[in-house]
Amino acid sequence: MNHIERIAAGLEQQGLDAMLISSAPGEFYAVGFQGEGYAIITKSACRYSTDARYIEAAEAIEGAELICISPTKGHAEYAAETVAAWNIKRLGIEDEYMSVQEYSKLKGLMPEVEFVPASEYMAQLRAVKDEDELQCMRAAQDITDRSFTEILNYIKPGFSEKEIAARLTYLQMSMGASVNSFNPIVASGPNGSMPHAIPSDKLIQSGEFVTLDFGCMFGGYCSDMTRTVCVGKPTEEMELVYNTVLKAQLAGIELCRGGVRGCDVHNAAADVIAAAGYGEYFGHGYGHSLGIEIHENPRANAVNDKPIPTGAVLSAEPGIYIPGKFGVRIEDLIIYCENGYEDYTKSPKNLICL
Ligand code: GLY
Ligand code: MN
Repeated sequence: MNHIERIAAGLEQQGLDAMLISSAPGEFYAVGFQGEGYAIITKSACRYSTDARYIEAAEAIEGAELICISPTKGHAEYAAETVAAWNIKRLGIEDEYMSVQEYSKLKGLMPEVEFVPASEYMAQLRAVKDEDELQCMRAAQDITDRSFTEILNYIKPGFSEKEIAARLTYLQMSMGASVNSFNPIVASGPNGSMPHAIPSDKLIQSGEFVTLDFGCMFGGYCSDMTRTVCVGKPTEEMELVYNTVLKAQLAGIELCRGGVRGCDVHNAAADVIAAAGYGEYFGHGYGHSLGIEIHENPRANAVNDKPIPTGAVLSAEPGIYIPGKFGVRIEDLIIYCENGYEDYTKSPKNLICL
């Protein structure tokens, strides 16, 4: 079943006559194409509008009737025309992405139509990856793993965080990635206590931890990995914190399988960190889903008491961040399977001292 068919198959259960896909990630999910377009999907038809810049490439889309918008008649006008022609009364919209301006324009053009927030429906579909999507994510993570091996040659005193981030970008793209899945995080020494530190001109120094959090896109899908390495010799406290984070990550991963509650995975890791006396230094969730976007739902965090579906791909990334000192995070890409998990991340997790 392709994604247009998957979206169509659930419409009735959602109480929808059609789904309007208007976001870039939604569009990529639905028609496998990024052309700044709108897709309208009913139980039996799909109409996709894009503009002259993309129309030729869009001909490769299977199962959609194409419309080329013009400067005088845009996506919204064509959408209203389609909704009237197909007698659509309840239209699902991507409320998580649609701007107020876009909503107002569409509503003005079709005041009789009921707009139903349906981002959650789309998120549920996108959460369960099919084999093609998993293949892209595996390939993306493979590039990220191989880039990690290479970047170790540059983690040494005298190199700046920014330079390492630039090299990570170069490495991933030269290995076949299309782009980074997000701007690489390279945080050394005290900067490591900021989970999302921005790479700076700071030079790496001996005796410091360096946290590398990076990923790439392959075939439209993301990878995401974090490793923390030590330049020179770690202190006893650094070793203790590193081993605690690793133990916490493994405790969470151990529980990963389709049907486990997100909060149970998070809490297994948080408990390990709290037991070691570092509870106040782990302030974010254990993991997020990813796919077309780097952060998707569902999450493995303290508040998600719902089951994670089989086929979901989530990060496993606990950390300990001690302001003014250092931080440690370790992150893998985990597939939640029917009877357990698969870890797509192959880079070693023992403390690497360079
Ligand atoms: N690896 C970046 C993030 O998960 O926020
Ligand atoms: Mn992540």
